[in-house]
Formats: sequence, C-alpha cells, structure tokens
Amino acid sequence: PVQRTLSIIKPDAVGKNVIGDIIRRFEENGLSVIGTRMTHLSAAEAGRFYAVHEGRPFYNDLCAFMSSGPILAMVLEGQNAVVLNRQLMGATNPKEAEPGTIRADHADSIDANAVHGSDSEENAAIEIAFFFSDLDLQSRG
Ligand code: CMP
Repeated sequence: PVQRTLSIIKPDAVGKNVIGDIIRRFEENGLSVIGTRMTHLSAAEAGRFYAVHEGRPFYNDLCAFMSSGPILAMVLEGQNAVVLNRQLMGATNPKEAEPGTIRADHADSIDANAVHGSDSEENAAIEIAFFFSDLDLQSRG
C-alpha cells in the first residue's frame, strides 16, 4: 500500500552537508518527498517528539543531541514507505547497520545516527502531525 512516513535528517548529518545524498537515496528507491521543514528543536520540543522513550536511560542524551543543531524533517510517500525507509536507514546502532545503508555510511554513534524514521504507520501519523499540517503536504499520488 502507498504509505507516508516521517524522516528526520539529524543534526550530525545536516552538519556534514549530506542532506542531498540522503534524499537521493529515498528518491532512487521509489520514495517521494511530499513535505519538508528545517527547524532547530529546543530540548523540550525534542522531549515531546520522543515522549515514547521518556524514562529510558538514553532519553536525556537523545533530547540534548536532537536539539544540538538544525534538523530537516520530511514526509516520504510511496509503496510500503514505513518499512522501505527503515531498510534504507539501516540498524539504529551504526555498528550493526548493513553496508550501503544511510547509517552505515553516515552515522557516528547510536545517538549521532544521521536519520530517524517512523517505526509503524500509526506512529508515522503521530510524528507527521508533530511537524506538519495537511496543508504542508503535496501528495504525488
Ligand atoms: P531514533 O530512530 O531517532 O529513535 C530514538 C533514538 O534514540 C534512536 O534513533 C537513537 O539515536 C537513540 N538511542 C540511543 N540509545 C538507544 C538505544 N539503546 N536503543 C534505541 N535507541 C537509542
């Protein structure tokens, strides 16, 4: 099915100037960018975005890292977009990421891991709504 998912290019990858390389991988694999927003979250905003992880041992470091610089949030649309995006990203821990994935090529650590992607269609809807209004999205359907 055609799905939408939220992708975030994290502060480490924005800082390395690899936005274009990451978007190229999405487009070459059949995903279309239907909305983009560059922003710099406060730690409190990062905490709200990652509220599902509140209480986990890595939560504070995660919020500090995600508010350390600008990010690019975008909505990807395409067949099986949720799983396809996660395949293109590779494993959360770059040491475990398959060669050729975004994280294998651009991530430095489990926190500075270049990209975020929604883990389910249900969470994708919640995460998209965090950054975007429907008016911001241009479906290519
Ligand atoms: P992300 O997909 O953005 O979702 C939560 C983030 O927490 C994850 O990527 C990692 O960058 C970070 N993180 C740090 N430690 C862990 C961990 N042990 N398990 C999962 N995520 C972690």
